[in-house]
Amino acid sequence: MKILVVADYESMSNAAAQIVQGQIARDPRSVLGLATGSTPLGVYKTLAEYHRQGLDFAELTTFNLDEYVGLAADHPQSYRHYMQENFFSKVNIRPENTHIPNGAAQDLQAECLRYEQLMAEAGGIDLQLLGIGSNGHIGFNEPGTAFGSQTQVVDLTESTIQDNARFFATPQDVPTQALSMGIKSIMQAKAIVLMASGANKADAVHAALRGPVTPHVPASVLQLHPFVTFVVDQAAAGRL
Ligand code: F6R
Repeated sequence: MKILVVADYESMSNAAAQIVQGQIARDPRSVLGLATGSTPLGVYKTLAEYHRQGLDFAELTTFNLDEYVGLAADHPQSYRHYMQENFFSKVNIRPENTHIPNGAAQDLQAECLRYEQLMAEAGGIDLQLLGIGSNGHIGFNEPGTAFGSQTQVVDLTESTIQDNARFFATPQDVPTQALSMGIKSIMQAKAIVLMASGANKADAVHAALRGPVTPHVPASVLQLHPFVTFVVDQAAAGRL
């Protein structure tokens, strides 16, 4: 476990982008695991800048952690749309190499199995990027999720639904379920980078790194992974 404490959001984004760049330089055919939310926006911006300077994404494959149930790929709040807007459209990645669970699938259980199978067929994830929820969640694996879980349909907690409400026109539009890689799926990645920025993440970062390994703090499972780097800014490291 490596812990990199950097000054601020920008330094966090640069440090994580450099790790991704190193991975692509070592193996242009790498399989990356990707996250959405506010935390990785700076990483995607920096990677787009690296692309303008020549970094090639043509051979890369990506798998996103999660997607809302019930939102079509072109819905402005879908994670597919987020990825398209913030990253995929800015680099030369092949659309067919980008994978996100299909939250609009008819058969959600079958979609979860298909997603796990696709990751296995790709040879597994080489480098997984993660953010962390203020309750310690990773992906949409809320506190209490079994460490043995694989990609599954999850019910979002009331606090996550309320956090998301600001992005939707009416409370009825806010998704209450998501498809998410499970804890086991995440732990199968060969290397993991967790990023955290801001004082509202300080308790979660502290619990994940210094607390007991427990499903009550999903990110604490990362203490058991052999190749994890936490890249946290000073505010998020405030309780370490
Ligand atoms: C996103 C994801 C979530 C977020 C977490 C932090 O794909 O899986 O676990 O990483 O909720 O969100 P932000 O970065 O918005 O604070």
